[in-house]
Amino acid sequence: MTTSIDIKRVEKSKISSVDFDNLPFGSVYSDHMLTCDYKNGKWQSPKIEPFAPFSLDPSAKIFHYGQSIFEGMKAYKDAEENILLFRPTDNCKRLNKSAERLVIPPIPEEIFMDGLKALLEVDSDWIPKNEGSSLYVRPFMFATGNGFHASPADAYKFVICTAPSGAYFGGKVKVLIEERYARAANGGVGYAKAGGNYAAQFYPTQLAIEKGYNQVIWTDDNTHQFIEEAGAMNIFIRINDTLITSPTSDRILDGITRKSILQIAEDNGIATEVRKISVGEDVEAAKSGSLKEMFGAGTAAVISPIAGFGYQENDFDLPELENPYAAKLKKLITDIQTNKSEDPYGWRVFV
Ligand SMILES: Cc1ncc(COP(=O)(O)O)c(C=O)c1O
Repeated sequence: MTTSIDIKRVEKSKISSVDFDNLPFGSVYSDHMLTCDYKNGKWQSPKIEPFAPFSLDPSAKIFHYGQSIFEGMKAYKDAEENILLFRPTDNCKRLNKSAERLVIPPIPEEIFMDGLKALLEVDSDWIPKNEGSSLYVRPFMFATGNGFHASPADAYKFVICTAPSGAYFGGKVKVLIEERYARAANGGVGYAKAGGNYAAQFYPTQLAIEKGYNQVIWTDDNTHQFIEEAGAMNIFIRINDTLITSPTSDRILDGITRKSILQIAEDNGIATEVRKISVGEDVEAAKSGSLKEMFGAGTAAVISPIAGFGYQENDFDLPELENPYAAKLKKLITDIQTNKSEDPYGWRVFV
């Protein structure tokens, strides 16, 4: 490690108050956080300090112009207590891709990786070992520089917080194919993990929940004829024995789970196709019985199977399969992530 990091530890850990057998997702936080300020045109030395609120000027640009981006990743502990990360430099690269789009200065990969590893070592007792649980890691950056003028800030903060977490979703979800709203548009910021993208999802999602669904399937903003993402996850559909996912674009996040699943599926004899999926094709496949599975893929849930979908006032159920691809692929990927199987791809990073 070459980055010098100042470490200020908590006086008393709060870990004994946490029930590791009943962890929620993302709402219990570990003792420490990593922070690093950007000012005077450069990133300063990172610090590890007790998890605590920030103090910000009301004129900080984050509140007015939404310069805010984040990442989501997980850390695991294997049977020998080794700490593992999954493709972490991809998260750093994606954060910097988001940063470029929001005119936030990129965080040097060294600060990201050294800071992350140091934080995980300091809070290593917070990494759950129970099956399905993990330490959810949330790196983020936002504008702390101030001014009521719509232009990029001159100061930013990079932070990494962690949250010991249980499984993200329980059970299968029912989704609604969106026909009116869009989460992203051509030329927009859909491919970035910008906070505002998620704010834009809340209202249509709330309407879908009021209609009895759990999530929205996003379609393209122009025609609403093509399936693009499932909530805050990439989408896969299985027609007969072929697994299909939409190509990434301006509007779709280049998911690390998505690209890992594509690779693992291909290497395990599952035919894959990366191509546009029309809503009509999905509906026709559901009617004819060739639609076998639909699932969302993302770091939080890994794979979230879809039980059925609604479209234009009609509901379609998916079959209950004995050996779905969703379960097979979830096992293959989580076994790599948690060091229970070989990692032929070199995706695992030991801390
Ligand atoms: C909109 C969106 N799509 C897809 C994903 C999946 O990406 P990843 O697999 O890198 O977590 C995420 C984030 O988790 C997301 O926010």
